[in-house]
Formats: sequence, C-alpha cells, structure tokens
Amino acid sequence: MTARSFPEGFLWGSATASYQIEGAATEDGRGPSIWDTYSHTPGRTLNGDTGDVAADHYHRWAEDLDHLKELGLGAYRFSIAWPRVQPGGSGAFNQAGIDFYSRLTDRLLELGIQPVATMYHWDLPQELEDAGGWPARDTALRFQEYAAGIVGALGDRVHTWTTLNEPWCSAYLGYASGVHAPGRTEPAAALAAVHHLNLAHGLAGRVVRELAPAAQLSVTLNLHVIRPASDSAADADAVRRIDALANRAFLGPMLDGAYPADLLADTAEVTDWSFVRDGDEQTAAVPLDVLGVNYYSTTLVRAWDGVAARSDNDGHGRSAHTPWVGAGDVDFLPQPGPYTAMGWNIDPSGMTELLLRLSREYPNQPMMITENGAAFADEVSADGRIHDEPRVDYLYRHIDAVGEAVDGGADVRGYFVWSLLDNFEWGYGYDRRFGIIRVDYDTQVRTWKDSAHWYRRLATTGVLPD
Ligand code: NOJ
Repeated sequence: MTARSFPEGFLWGSATASYQIEGAATEDGRGPSIWDTYSHTPGRTLNGDTGDVAADHYHRWAEDLDHLKELGLGAYRFSIAWPRVQPGGSGAFNQAGIDFYSRLTDRLLELGIQPVATMYHWDLPQELEDAGGWPARDTALRFQEYAAGIVGALGDRVHTWTTLNEPWCSAYLGYASGVHAPGRTEPAAALAAVHHLNLAHGLAGRVVRELAPAAQLSVTLNLHVIRPASDSAADADAVRRIDALANRAFLGPMLDGAYPADLLADTAEVTDWSFVRDGDEQTAAVPLDVLGVNYYSTTLVRAWDGVAARSDNDGHGRSAHTPWVGAGDVDFLPQPGPYTAMGWNIDPSGMTELLLRLSREYPNQPMMITENGAAFADEVSADGRIHDEPRVDYLYRHIDAVGEAVDGGADVRGYFVWSLLDNFEWGYGYDRRFGIIRVDYDTQVRTWKDSAHWYRRLATTGVLPD
C-alpha cells in the first residue's frame, strides 16, 4: 500500500454517547431513562453493569475535551441525554441539564472543535416508555418538543445536529429481540417503533431547519452490508428481505419519502402498517446535509429450506427472540474471522461496498462515517501503556477502505472513531472496551492507548501512512 492522503477539509473526529460515558444518573435533576430501568433489572446486562457512574464524564468533561484537543481532532460527536434536559420527556425543561450541554458546546468552540450533537442515543425518558414508548405515535411528537427545547437553547453553536442514532437498534433490539432497553419482544410494536422513529426524525429535522438554519442536519444509520451465502435466487431474495428491514425501512422514508413496497408486503402478517398516516413519509424526508453512516462488520444470509440445520446466530444478541421481524425463512450464518471482542467479523471491504452503494443510489447526498471502531481485550503492559495493535490495524484498514470509496467517487466528508473513551457497551456493560483512551473504572484515570497516538498522527497530517 502507498500512503493515502485525505482531501483537504476532511474531518477527523471521535464519538461518544451520553448514557455510555456520563454517569451522574440522578444528579442535577436528571430523570430516569429506559436504560436506567433496563440495566437495573437483574439479568439484563453482563455482570449487572449500569451507567450510574460510567466514565464519570459528567464531572470530567473538561478533561475529556482537552484530550480531544490533544488528539488534534476537528469534531466531536456527543449525545444529549433527553432525561437530563427534560426529565419526564414532556413539559418542563431542566435548566441544569441544558447548562451542562451549553458549557460543553461553548468549550468545544473555544477549542476549535466542531460540536456534532445527537439528540437521541437511546436514553428515552422512562415516563414516555410507560406511556407506550416508540411504538406510540405520541413519542414522536414529544421528541419534536424536546428538539425545539434543545435547538432553541444551543442553536447553531452546534455545527451539526443529528436527530437519531441507529434507529434500527432502538426499534428492533428494543422492541423485537429485547436485548436493548426497554427489552420488549413484540414484533408488531417493533415495526410501529420503526415508523415513529422515522417520523420523529422528520419532525425534529424540521425544527432544526426552522430554529437553527445555519446548522447542518444529519441522522446516523447503522446500514447493513448483507451478503448471500450463494448466488442462488433464493439467497438473493433473503438479502432483499433483510435489506428492506435493516436499510430501506429507514432510507426509504428518510431519503425517498416512502416505504418500499416489498417491506410492507414482507411484513404484512406482522402488521398492516395502519400507523402510517398521510403525510408522514413526506415529513420523514427532510433534506439532509449529511448522512451519518456507522459501520462495523457484515451480515451473511441464506434462504432457509426448513430442512438443513438452522444457524442459531442472528448476529445481534443473546435473546431467544429475533430482531428480524417478518424476515421469513432467512438464516443468519456465522462468518469467517478474524473477529473483534464483540464476535463481529472484521471485513473492511464492506465499508467500501456500503459507501459506494449509497453514492450510487443517492449521488447528491454527502456522507460522514459517524462511527467505526472495535472492542478488543486490551491489556495494560508493564510499561503502563496499552499496545492495542489489533485496534490500530482495524482502524487503519477501515480508514483505508473509506479512502478507497472516496477514490471511487463517494462524497464522504469525515470519519469519527468509536470511541473516544472506554464506556458502557449496553448489554455488555464495561466488559467490552471500544476506546482509543483507556478508562480505569476504579480510579477514572484516562490513559492513551497506542491507537490514540496513532489516530493523532492521522488527524494532524491527514495522511494514512503506508
Ligand atoms: C453503535 C452504537 O451507536 C454505540 O452506542 C455502540 O457502543 C457501538 N455501536 C458499538 O457497539
């Protein structure tokens, strides 16, 4: 390989999310979210871990922003905890919560780092779940109200507003497989959640347009790269079905203003989609300045003939329930390694393939990699350092794959490594470490891993060395 230079202005950043790093779960008026409830329910998370303290970022935010500066990053993607700024999910806002994000934003600007704020990274106020959660239409309307509150307060000090993070997870892992909060296993409700998340995105996006016209608007999707086990027509159809559920269920309304007909037909036995009202799909299709793409690994499927042994791998968790509502006889196959500590296969070619597909299908849509990274079993060496060579290699190869897509014509504006810090990895608690900076959870001391040093060189030169 030869050294690869990224275009002038290509943005290098890092990402986090509120519940995963902040801690301070009951401080300064924060209300409970579905992740507080879920993680405090025995058996839901590995080792019973919760986000009560996490990386204590709520108190250590200034130090954490200094790390961003030291890393030479141009942007920081963080999320706003809805229950911190509007504890009950409707009605009164909590000034202390707003002040926290306001200080964070101002400090980022002082440091010359673009604030990229996600409005929803999964911490739904518990009261809204009690009233029905995302399967209920009212949650989308409450989200619009919440968006108006935070955009009103932070406005265009936030460079880029991202409405939702990975609505696929919120809908299917939250309401179908139940491996994420709120842990429900109701197939029809999961599809209603898909729709109300799409609607919430459109409503909140329009709030950004109105209240902060100078800000950029985006959404972050975890689009799946789905490959067939063979070149049979049946396997191609399995790919089509999963593509509809995983990708086009969001891309359709958000970018084309309509659900794909095959999705509605495939899921007809689960729901009649009567929760979609006239005008909703158009509302969801608010024009985006940048589409956020999260990429980690690929998905391998085949049509299941009902005879051959079925794989017990659905690629997404430890539940007996599947997130793949209405997928029919599709079987998810284990994939060849190597793997990360999540058990996810490492395949950078999927990154290039995904970006080229998107640029073919949506040629005028700029994109940004809003997450990419890996968990590995890091060890602290005798010299006190963390020589996380596998992570450096993972990042190197995926960033190279982004460069290949750019060479192929994909309009990619930036890359955010997941994650700045080790943090609460949802159902896996603190057991899986994604950070380029290590967090010692006993002392809260932050230590740069080798990957952080490596990423700093890339961010400050824009050159991926050979
Ligand atoms: C996607 C999610 O947005 C983030 O919260 C999570 O920690 C990473 N991927 C890794 O699983």
